[in-house]
Order: sequence, then C-alpha cells, then structure tokens
Amino acid sequence: MATETSLNGDMPHKRQRMEHDNRVTVVLGAQWGDEGKGKMVDLLATESDVVCRCQGGNNAGHTVVVDGKMYDFHLLPSGLANPHCMSVIGNGVVVHLPQMFDELEKNHAKGLEWKNRLLLSNRAHMVFDFHQAVDGIQETHRGNAFIGTTKKGIGPTYSSKATRNGLRICDLMGDFEVFAVKLQNLACQFQKLHPEVEIDVQAELDQYKEYRERIRDIVTDTPLYMNEALRNGKKVLVEGANASMLDIDFGTYPSVTSSNCSIGGVCTGLGIPAQKIGDVIGVVKAYTTRVGGGVLPTEQLNDIGETLQVKGHEFGVTTGRKRRCGWLDTVVVNYTNMLNGYTCIALTKLDILDEFEEVKIGAQYKINGKVTKSFPPTLEELAKVDVEYVTLPGWKKSTADCRKFSDLPENAQNYVKKVEELIGVPIKWVGVGQDRLSLIQLF
Ligand code: GTP
Repeated sequence: MATETSLNGDMPHKRQRMEHDNRVTVVLGAQWGDEGKGKMVDLLATESDVVCRCQGGNNAGHTVVVDGKMYDFHLLPSGLANPHCMSVIGNGVVVHLPQMFDELEKNHAKGLEWKNRLLLSNRAHMVFDFHQAVDGIQETHRGNAFIGTTKKGIGPTYSSKATRNGLRICDLMGDFEVFAVKLQNLACQFQKLHPEVEIDVQAELDQYKEYRERIRDIVTDTPLYMNEALRNGKKVLVEGANASMLDIDFGTYPSVTSSNCSIGGVCTGLGIPAQKIGDVIGVVKAYTTRVGGGVLPTEQLNDIGETLQVKGHEFGVTTGRKRRCGWLDTVVVNYTNMLNGYTCIALTKLDILDEFEEVKIGAQYKINGKVTKSFPPTLEELAKVDVEYVTLPGWKKSTADCRKFSDLPENAQNYVKKVEELIGVPIKWVGVGQDRLSLIQLF
C-alpha cells in the first residue's frame, strides 16, 4: 500500500515542486556600489511581502525618494519605505544598535512608520563603539594604502566574528551577567591591541541594558522566519548592500568591504538554501564610480570624470566623500555576472550621459597586448591593464522624460543595446532620473 502511494500519488513531488517554486529575488550591485540599488529595491518592494538585508552594516547608503520625501537607509532594509512590507536584518549583517535607532528615528521624523515591520536576527553580530574607534585608527595606520573605510566599525566587527570573540544579539538577550563578562573580555582584547582607545565598559553595559528592552519585540530566529515565509508563498526580496567589486573574496582586495556582497552572502547571511535563489537583478550604473582607494581602470581624471561626478551628484551618502568617476566598464560587469548569474540588468543613471558628444564603454582588458579573460586578482596587476573602448555617438538630448524605450533618442537606444550585447544579459530597466517614476521598463 505504501509503495503504491509513493509510486502512484504525486503528492510528495508536487509539494517539493511548490516549495521550490517560491524563490527569493535578489538585487545586487554589479560594480563598486552606489549603482542605484535603493530605487530598484524600492520599486520591487512595492510587490514584496518581505525585504531583507543579508550582509554589511550601516556602511551602505540607499537613498529612496517616495512622494517627494527622501529617506536615507544605511543599515535598515529600504523596503521599510513600503508600508505593506516586513523588513528583516539577517544574521550576516553587523549592527550598531544606537545607530540603528538613530536611523529609525530620523526616518520616523520624516513620516516613516516602522513599528511591527522590522525583524532583527538573533544571530547578527553587534558593532560596539570600540570597533568603530579601532576602524578609524587602523585606517590612519594604513597611510597611503588606505582602504577608504566608512569607519563604522564594520571591518573590526567581522574580525571579532571570525576570531570567535564577537557578541551577537542572542548574547544580549540571554543572561545579562554572562553578556557583561563577554563584553568585558572583548573590550579587554581591544584595549591590549589598541591602548590609545578609551573604552568605558560600564557605560556600554548601562546603555545595552536599555537596548535589550528596546529590541525585545523585534529579535527573531530569522533563518526560521525566512524559510517559513518562503514555504508560505511570501514574496521575498533581498537587497544587497555594497557591491560585488567590494566583495571580500572577489572584489579588488584589499580595497573591499569585509563581507560577501555577491550572491553567496545571500545564503550565508539569511540562512536560506541555494535552490531558493530565483531572479538575480544586477544593478549597473551607466558609468563607473567608486569611493576610496584602489585601482579604477576606466577612471577619467579629466573633464569627463568631473562632469560625471557633478551631474551624477557622486558624493557618498554615508561619508559625503566625492566619488571617482569613469566610463562604464563591461569587463567588471561580465566578471560579476559570472559570479552572480544575473537573470536581468537594471541600467541606472543613463540621464547622466545626456550631454556628451560621444560615450565610451570599456569592452575588454589587455595586459602586455594580450586580452585577459581572468579578472586580475591584485591591484598591481589591475593597474597594468589597458582598457579597450567601444566609442558611440552621444545623443545630446534630455532622456529625463522618457518612459518607453522608443522615447529614448536613437543614439541612447543604441548605447543601451550595445551594453546589453557586451554583457549578454537582458536589460529590463533603464533609469533616467532620481525619482521612482523615472524608469523605463523594457519587458
Ligand atoms: P550603496 O548601497 O551605498 O552601494 O548605494 P545604492 O546602490 O543603493 O545607491 P543609491 O540607491 O543610494 O543611489 C545613488 C543615487 O543615485 C541616489 O541619489 C539615487 O536617487 C540616484 N539614482 C538612482 N537611479 C537614478 C537614475 O536613473 N538617474 C539619476 N539621475 N539618479 C538616479
């Protein structure tokens, strides 16, 4: 009888298929960050039930403009801008609780309601003030080899995590005496390594006693929550912070961040299996920018770079620093596509190219006259590449009001088509302005 049921009945298979069918949609930065992921996440969040962060901390900076109000999200999932969405801070994220509440309060003052819509993983690691102090000191010690960290303590916190000394939200929620001893030990280690840092453990403890009450309602076993949400058919969106070229494994090391901001970080940072990954949207800015140090092969240290910087308002949201600018580099995008497997592309900030006589796209790298297929692993090797460009005529016309592909000037259409050809992934959206509506959907 049992054999008959398993042979004839298709229930187990059917159930398996249903579970497999519901997958997360992931939005990832395809370059060095600041591609405009915030707007894409905001758009997709309008049809999502759950929006999650899986890595990084408050070193990212999404700007979302809704109904003329500009919200800044650094740690918080930008899905919070959608009142119908649950937002999840996953176990892979590192959290400075005082700054998390600052961010909530600032956005609340602009009208954002977040109560009952935010969950925080009990396995997320905590960033303490001394992590932030040490971040600044380490950066100063690097001298000319500075990384350009945001000094938010993210790197030192991931170091504590890797050396198994870190403190997690679950530690704070457990026996406070045990937490106090662990914090004392961690602070002691930091003090020995960095005697110049002032650490007032008692003040931290007093503060954290309060925070543990403030977060009590939002702390959750997020892997369980995520997997149940998927099983129950909820639409889940994962917003990548930072970007693949800043990934600690695959980025331009050491000028990178300290987490995995490519696709692998989605599974490890949320506790969901790889087969639950569905659409992977690569967000590509129509030109290239980066903050901080490190080689940038298509950088334009001239009027072109200046125009991109000024017109594109290329200043860091978190640091206020000017971003370095250059032409779009499709070698970079092809590399991150290989790592992440984009199912489609959102090409943002096309409007910033509106004024140029001609536009260029980095199409391949040559080292010593030979095309390289392997992305250079060191900054020294990357500095040696000669970029070969494809040059196209500019369109010299505003694209800001275009809402259909056919509205775009012909040369702008050709630019988009060329990018698609060079990347080999369908472009689904083209951004032509800051606002939520300034977007062309191609299919
Ligand atoms: P990180 O997470 O820090 O890497 O940033 P991000 O990728 O989330 O970038 P963000 O969403 O903050 O976008 C950067 C800026 O570009 C914001 O001011 C956006 O409003 C703006 N922006 C996004 N898309 C477009 C576009 O198509 N055109 C123009 N002009 N601005 C855009």
